Amino acid sequence: MSATRPAATTTDPLSREPVVKVTSLTKRYGELVAVDDLTFSLEAGTVTGFLGPNGAGKTTTLRMLLGLAEPTGGEALVFGRRYHELDEPARRVGAVLESNDFDPGRSGGDHLRALALAAEIQQSRVDEVLELVELVASARRRVKTYSLGMRQRLGLAAALLGDPELLVLDEPANGLDPVGVHWLRNFLRSFAEGGRTVLVSSHLLAEVAQAVDQVMIIDRGRLVAAARLDELTGTGQTLEEVYLELTARRAS
Ligand SMILES: Nc1ncnc2c1ncn2[C@@H]1O[C@H](COP(=O)(O)OP(=O)(O)OP(=O)(O)O)[C@@H](O)[C@H]1O
Ligand SMILES: [Mg+2]
Repeated sequence: MSATRPAATTTDPLSREPVVKVTSLTKRYGELVAVDDLTFSLEAGTVTGFLGPNGAGKTTTLRMLLGLAEPTGGEALVFGRRYHELDEPARRVGAVLESNDFDPGRSGGDHLRALALAAEIQQSRVDEVLELVELVASARRRVKTYSLGMRQRLGLAAALLGDPELLVLDEPANGLDPVGVHWLRNFLRSFAEGGRTVLVSSHLLAEVAQAVDQVMIIDRGRLVAAARLDELTGTGQTLEEVYLELTARRAS
């Protein structure tokens, strides 16, 4: 395995099967409908911003996509299958969700080495991902001494270990400074240029606008917009204006 494995060999272009296919996906917690009949699909080579207010259902949707929560209804497929049915999920899908589970006493490098071992990934890949996220200089420090942004990078490094075709990131820009956000944006773009796919949730609209091809906006579990960025903002409105209009609160 190498960092430069061409994505064209990993996703059959003839099949045109969407990388992500979500159909009537629903999640209820008692009375609360966290995700409400969500349907969308993502093609290979796209970067999609997944936007919505606090509690809109973004994390819940991503958790169902990754097999971490069971849908109440509908289905969420990656590469045509449910996540747990993939042969080598770590090599196909890399994910960073809200809570990173790091052992604070362990160094960043050791954390990645343990993950690589568990996933049967070559140890040399650890150095590659440390370099990719620009964490080489801090790899020997304990995670408890890391800043929020460094933890985000470590989470991303872990997600990249398996050299995945799909990256699913929940609020990856949280805690990053402007240089870090700029770096992340470029990283996501170059990741997708080879035909790989990114689904990224974010609150930072301005930052997202510069990194994504298309956006999906959800509000109270329902999809309220899904379009190419240039279509959404083609009327002269900024993404922020469109977002605020579509997610206007009932109470207001
Ligand atoms: N395990 C759970 N049990 C009960 N309710 C839950 C659970 N997980 C999420 N919820 C509820 O589902 C709704 C959607 O939550 P979710 O975390 O998906 O939102 P989000 O869009 O990720 O929000 P944020 O932007 O704040 O991260 C919220 O009302 C939340 O309280
Ligand atoms: Mg969330």
